[in-house]
Amino acid sequence: MERLRGSDFLDIAQLDRMELEGILDLAGRIKAGGWSDTPLLGRTLALLFQKPSMRTRVSFQVGVSRLGGRAVTLGNEEVGLGQREGVADVARVLDRYVDGIVARVGPHRDLLELASASANPVINALSDASHPCQVLADLLTMREALGRLDATTRVVFVGDGNNVVSSLMEAATLLGFPLTVVSPPAYRPSAEAVARAPEVSVTSDLAAVAGAAIVYTDVWTSMGQEAEAEARRAEFAKYQVNERLMEMAPEALFMHCLPAHRGEEVTAEVIDGPRSVVFDQAGNRLDAQMALLALIYGEA
Ligand code: CP
Ligand code: NVA
Repeated sequence: MERLRGSDFLDIAQLDRMELEGILDLAGRIKAGGWSDTPLLGRTLALLFQKPSMRTRVSFQVGVSRLGGRAVTLGNEEVGLGQREGVADVARVLDRYVDGIVARVGPHRDLLELASASANPVINALSDASHPCQVLADLLTMREALGRLDATTRVVFVGDGNNVVSSLMEAATLLGFPLTVVSPPAYRPSAEAVARAPEVSVTSDLAAVAGAAIVYTDVWTSMGQEAEAEARRAEFAKYQVNERLMEMAPEALFMHCLPAHRGEEVTAEVIDGPRSVVFDQAGNRLDAQMALLALIYGEA
């Protein structure tokens, strides 16, 4: 875990298997109340959000404060990353005030530029390419809800080959659980994401849902793609996660990173039904990110 101390956290793929499992183990201890260190005592983090956020923003803010630190939250109106001010200048200035930057950006290259200009840790709170903090919570949720996360845990993601699934693909590669991504042909994960996760199976055939332990989906239109919403609704219509689809995997639990759009990517019956673990999943953002921060800033 030494490698995490003082480091950036930009993607799941930067971790090795032991580091990823170490984050999940510590998250479990934190959640169980068996860990109360304050590695952020006397430290301040900037939470820089170029896009809207509820879960990520609040869970980081609360997590920082539970670890003894302070968080300063900045929205796009204040900073205007790359518009009002160049990305590198923002990082250099924040370095003089705070001990790290948690950043939600549009282009992933903004995150890379923040990280290279900042001497302090930079944490990816979502970019157009990945959402690794989400996936830490997802993995914790799978471990808790299924009691295992291994080669026997078949995870099927149905929907857009977006930032969330790219991080999930990296996690599947590291931990060795079988992941299938079912997307319309024009909305499959990027070539880069597929190249990083060659064992993940990518298809447009919904029959792949059969036998899943987890069925996971996300919005059809991610933040920043609003102009494509109508075209996407038409392309994705048959990829809705509804009761008929869930019947193909009778044992499967349902996951969604939220926010959700009932009647689009998922029906109310599924997301509000007994097989849904979406609110435990959202709750786990807090424990997973506290573990990550504790390992970056502490002696854990
Ligand atoms: N899942 C997630 O990242 O939610 P927010 O966009 O509300 O932070
Ligand atoms: N794919 C979604 C995730 C939101 C948490 C988006 O980028 O908007």
